[in-house]
Amino acid sequence: MKFIDEVAISHKKILLRVDFNVSLNPNHSISDDARIKQSIPTIEYLLKHHNKLILIAHLGEPEKRSSKDSLIPIARRLHDYLPHYKIRLVDDFTKDQSRIDYQKDDEIILLENIRFYPGEQANDPEFSKKLASLGELYVNDAFGVSHRKSASVIGLPTLLPSYGGLLLKKEMAMIGKAMEHPVKPFVAIMGGMKISTKIKFITKLVTVADYLLLGGGIANTLLMAQGHKLGNSLVSHEDISEAKKILTLANEKGTHILLPADFVVGKNQDSKESSVVKIDGVKDDEQILDIGPETEAEFGAVIDKAGTIIWNGPVGYMENPVFKRGTDFLYYAITQNTKATSVVGGGDTLAAIAKKEYLEKITHISTGGGAMLEFIENGTLPGIEALKKAKSA
Ligand code: 3PG
Repeated sequence: MKFIDEVAISHKKILLRVDFNVSLNPNHSISDDARIKQSIPTIEYLLKHHNKLILIAHLGEPEKRSSKDSLIPIARRLHDYLPHYKIRLVDDFTKDQSRIDYQKDDEIILLENIRFYPGEQANDPEFSKKLASLGELYVNDAFGVSHRKSASVIGLPTLLPSYGGLLLKKEMAMIGKAMEHPVKPFVAIMGGMKISTKIKFITKLVTVADYLLLGGGIANTLLMAQGHKLGNSLVSHEDISEAKKILTLANEKGTHILLPADFVVGKNQDSKESSVVKIDGVKDDEQILDIGPETEAEFGAVIDKAGTIIWNGPVGYMENPVFKRGTDFLYYAITQNTKATSVVGGGDTLAAIAKKEYLEKITHISTGGGAMLEFIENGTLPGIEALKKAKSA
């Protein structure tokens, strides 16, 4: 597999897959543009070498074409980063290709939300062919979507000479480095609501990490598997038997799983009132909505001695300021350990830290959510495998 800075690519029409799936505010403005910003080096690199770019991106999971999932706000933000270029948003390339055929040197084409076409997620070969006919080369810089077997991720590399972009290269190198030769102790922190989507990943972490610090719904499910009383808290009952297996495996491997010893509880996620309770102190009408201060101290001590840290998922319901203290605390604890290699990822996690100070103290902020987890689990992704099999020009 080759990356764009390892070959000479110039004067070509390039289909560039990017992950611009940013979080939007209710008024459709962009709340965090890290994913756009992180692909700018690849875009600038290819432009500097006199290539014309056709960007392919998705936003959300639209079931049909709709203005609320349009890439209009993204086109505007892209122009802020690339003020010398006109960003041309092509509404439907299957109906009108003239803009693309007559693309000028100072224009960047952005295809409208690629998930408006059913062929994208179905990886329809005919759709891939239509897309491929627009350019001469394909570049994948969309690490965050490379776990999806979509036409623009795995279909195009079967049809065009294909390369990896600079962000893809950076993500693979940084996460790969942290995982392959982790400086010990290796501490993995996992939060978030659902355990189901993360079970395989947690099982993998149990085999490689020294400490697993768990919060959120994931921790609740393991606590329930241990027989604790959790009141009205979110628990994934169908995953209890898997949770028991994880606890047994950790025992066998000598991996320390740290579950919260106290919690911030409230009546529901929107509560203005909260209280701190010890384990088994959650009342029937209360929910666990954050980790408590004793847990913060315990987790903080482990983070402080870590050599490698991976973090994915908030440990509380951070949309409500009453329950975001635990997640804020973890963030600051990670940034204070300046000797550790730290990798942080996941949409919710990025939103939780987006406007914080000390961001530069995190070794790598991954643009991948599910992709980061799958890359850690398998050491590769379908989009990367597709590039490995593709031919070079
Ligand atoms: C992400 O947000 O993790 C990527 O853009 C992939 O999006 P998806 O989970 O909707 O496929």
